[in-house]
Amino acid sequence: MYLSRFLSIHALWVTVSSVMQPYPLVWGHYDLCKTQIYTEEGKVWDYMACQPESTDMTKYLKVKLDPPDITCGDPPETFCAMGNPYMCNNECDASTPELAHPPELMFDFEGRHPSTFWQSATWKEYPKPLQVNITLSWSKTIELTDNIVITFESGRPDQMILEKSLDYGRTWQPYQYYATDCLDAFHMDPKSVKDLSQHTVLEIICTEEYSTGYTTNSKIIHFEIKDRFAFFAGPRLRNMASLYGQLDTTKKLRDFFTVTDLRIRLLRPAVGEIFVDELHLARYFYAISDIKVRGRCKCNLHATVCVYDNSKLTCECEHNTTGPDCGKCKKNYQGRPWSPGSYLPIPKGTANTCIPSISSIGNPPKFNRIWPNISSLEVSNPKQECYCNPLGSIHDRCNGSGFCECKTGTTGPKCDECLPGNSWHYGCQPNVCDNELLHCQNGGTCHNNVRCLCPAAYTGILCEKLRCEEAGSCGSDSGQGAPPHGSPALLLLLTTLLGTASPLVF
Ligand SMILES: *[C@@H]1O[C@H](CO)[C@@H](O)[C@H](O)[C@H]1NC(C)=O
Ligand SMILES: *[C@@H]1O[C@H](CO)[C@@H](O)[C@H](O)[C@H]1NC(C)=O
Ligand SMILES: *[C@@H]1O[C@H](CO)[C@@H](O)[C@H](O)[C@H]1NC(C)=O
Ligand SMILES: *[C@@H]1O[C@H](CO)[C@@H](O)[C@H](O)[C@H]1NC(C)=O
Repeated sequence: MYLSRFLSIHALWVTVSSVMQPYPLVWGHYDLCKTQIYTEEGKVWDYMACQPESTDMTKYLKVKLDPPDITCGDPPETFCAMGNPYMCNNECDASTPELAHPPELMFDFEGRHPSTFWQSATWKEYPKPLQVNITLSWSKTIELTDNIVITFESGRPDQMILEKSLDYGRTWQPYQYYATDCLDAFHMDPKSVKDLSQHTVLEIICTEEYSTGYTTNSKIIHFEIKDRFAFFAGPRLRNMASLYGQLDTTKKLRDFFTVTDLRIRLLRPAVGEIFVDELHLARYFYAISDIKVRGRCKCNLHATVCVYDNSKLTCECEHNTTGPDCGKCKKNYQGRPWSPGSYLPIPKGTANTCIPSISSIGNPPKFNRIWPNISSLEVSNPKQECYCNPLGSIHDRCNGSGFCECKTGTTGPKCDECLPGNSWHYGCQPNVCDNELLHCQNGGTCHNNVRCLCPAAYTGILCEKLRCEEAGSCGSDSGQGAPPHGSPALLLLLTTLLGTASPLVF
């Protein structure tokens, strides 16, 4: 069964960005692994970085509860209604389908009335803590692409931890803490994702944002993936190029959004008041109607298809790679070390295909994007013609091992593509302004990424200076001679983009 095929990846992004999209979509789709192109040598394959479409991952998980017998109804018991804690004659009975609340109901179709939900036994053993671990396992590395959303049918728990594993459940790390009182529950200061920044995006926080309460969304808990993406891609996730660039170069960031398992640790049910009402312990339990997890199989940018077969997810690897995550080169294709595909350069990325092992070149491929003629390696013909772009490359011919050597800011096998933050003007030049990071100030507009067109009263690269200030003729009384706001930050931004400041450190 195919769970995705050659569709655009931005099913997710479309919902957030289609409304306001004054610019063409600048990021890649990565929805094709190869395409046929015409060259001097005829029709050949051109290989590109590719990934499966983002999809509903709850269809492919296994769920495990600890303790195993924590689901209500065996033996049958009564519990109190959520709206009226003194109406305690609701029944849970595992042997009667209409009264049973098994774990599957967290992943079934939503929108039914009344809603279907999993429910735990009640807190009848108070003061012994009522705790439940819900483990979701994929037996496959997946990359999260949207918020994890948990909808409670009961009140939201007073204390809960969301955890993740990257090694099939052998080790676990916290993802986020949730509490009505973070300091009391976990000795952590309460924070929200909005308090984070690009530099602290990987910080594990405790949030009180989803604590008990009876407002509109009071049943929902989020783990905020999109807010974290937004630190790189902008509030409407418009600059995906910038996010992909960061994911490409920062393994820790990529790993942060990668999981094989998730674990929801419910530590204390919603009490809603200071004291537990010991006379009505059937008021306290956990009930979850829905869990949403969207993501894609991690295939190291070597596959667009992930197959679900025999309850197992596997990437259908291209580029002569193999393994469940396309994590190695096929036999006889180990001519250079395996590497993941790269999102760069935007929009097509780099496939980093595996190439035939040197010893097994029985039938060398007619054309290879990076090594144009493998048998010529053995000749190492120094005057090999590579069609390197004369403006983008240092020499117009490739070097001894068949590579075009690109100028700063330039990339691609033929050095004719620009790295993010650069634009093509007789070769790749660093952007002076753009619509993402380098904004023209004071109403200036960006012209071809090379200069800001400033209103008459302003000057400077980003129109950040008053013209009179430049001329030393500003009135001393008006206070207009004050330095333009934000210029040190601007300078930092510029130097960062030009690559002279230290890169982001996580
Ligand atoms: C949940 O998992 C944690 C970590 O392994 C363990 O310490 C705890 O006892 C588990 N809780 C339950 C209710 O099984
Ligand atoms: C993988 O190797 C086969 C056999 O040489 C070749 O036909 C195919 O095009 C290669 N695929 C890629 C993506 O390199
Ligand atoms: C590769 O280069 C060698 C030496 O230049 C040439 O003899 C051979 O025909 C080339 N092979 C292909 C497949 O183009
Ligand atoms: C050719 O360029 C590639 C890429 O920059 C480099 O890795 C390789 O060492 C160079 N080879 C020679 C012989 O200079």
